Amino acid sequence: MKKAALLGTGSCLPRRVLSNTELEGLVDTSDEWITSRTGIKTRRIAGKGEENYQLATRAAQKALLMADVDAAAIDLVLVATITPHMIMPSCACFVQAEIGAENAFAYDLNAACSGFLFGLDMADKYIASRPGMKILLIGSETLSARVNWEDRNTCILFGDGAGAVVLGGAEDRGVIASSLFSDGRLWKLLYMDSPKSRNPDLCRPERKGCYIQMTGRDVFKFAVRSMEEAIMNLLEETGQRIEDIDLVIPHQANIRILNKLAERLSIAPEKLFVNVDTYGNTSAASIPIALDEVNRSGRLTAGDTVLFCSFGGGFTWGALLMRW
Ligand code: ACO
Repeated sequence: MKKAALLGTGSCLPRRVLSNTELEGLVDTSDEWITSRTGIKTRRIAGKGEENYQLATRAAQKALLMADVDAAAIDLVLVATITPHMIMPSCACFVQAEIGAENAFAYDLNAACSGFLFGLDMADKYIASRPGMKILLIGSETLSARVNWEDRNTCILFGDGAGAVVLGGAEDRGVIASSLFSDGRLWKLLYMDSPKSRNPDLCRPERKGCYIQMTGRDVFKFAVRSMEEAIMNLLEETGQRIEDIDLVIPHQANIRILNKLAERLSIAPEKLFVNVDTYGNTSAASIPIALDEVNRSGRLTAGDTVLFCSFGGGFTWGALLMRW
């Protein structure tokens, strides 16, 4: 059976770099606090000409170029995002039009920071049933539009960016297995309300606005525990050991979360990919941006085993194994 394998990767980061020192001028915080509690030093902030779909489009064009696949050959454009610039049409439809993928169907997927991972799993299932399919999977976010810039608990964490992959069927490489979970009962720990309702009967006085709201400490604990469980589950199912993994590419949320996870699972530091210091938490875009960096650096060779893991609002979480 054919598996979803990488044919090309691309990413696009906004031009503007926002440093911790600049944040000191916006909220009561310090470079020292942000660095020691999160590991983040800078993040990118979208500006004019850098709407979510525009970042997504540029990342997609780079991935198509690397894959040497024409946009017209793409069968599905799938965008994982929680920050589309419009609710309708989907970000994926805008990307489809921009790149000229006229033979594709297109839609968005919302699994918060786990969106790209859930998308990879979905792409693998499409390819299992239609092995000739070419899929453009993108994770793209403009979280700067959805954070409260007066809330020091959240505004220091997030950044904007996009990453894309072109996937096609292969026998000897690609997705090996995945282990995905959700628990909607935990929604209040991390959420973003919808815009104000136009139906007066559906207007809720308690709504706080279309911003990210988070109970940081609980999210932290849950993130470590949930990713650990998902990874253990996946390793057990596939009969692999953590020592067999060549590289772990986790969702980039906080260096302390990643270090704790690595400590609990005995992941060697050189096998844990980290770029949260440079880009902050870019939600669904964080794994594909990291993946593009890894791919272009050439640090993996054919046959290597890569482990992805993530957690996010919902709650959603999971792990996925891929043969390079
Ligand atoms: N600068 C200075 N002080 C701050 C800041 C800040 N930016 N933010 C909070 N503080 C203060 C708090 O007010 C608190 O002060 P108090 O003791 O006087 O009340 C103190 O620092 C400690 O606050 P905690 O929240 O306990 O700090 P903690 O060590 O837990 O770090 C953090 C906070 C970084 C948010 C951490 O909890 C975390 O990373 N949680 C996970 C967040 C995350 O990954 N979210 C993304 C989820 S992924 C997604 O789906 C979008």
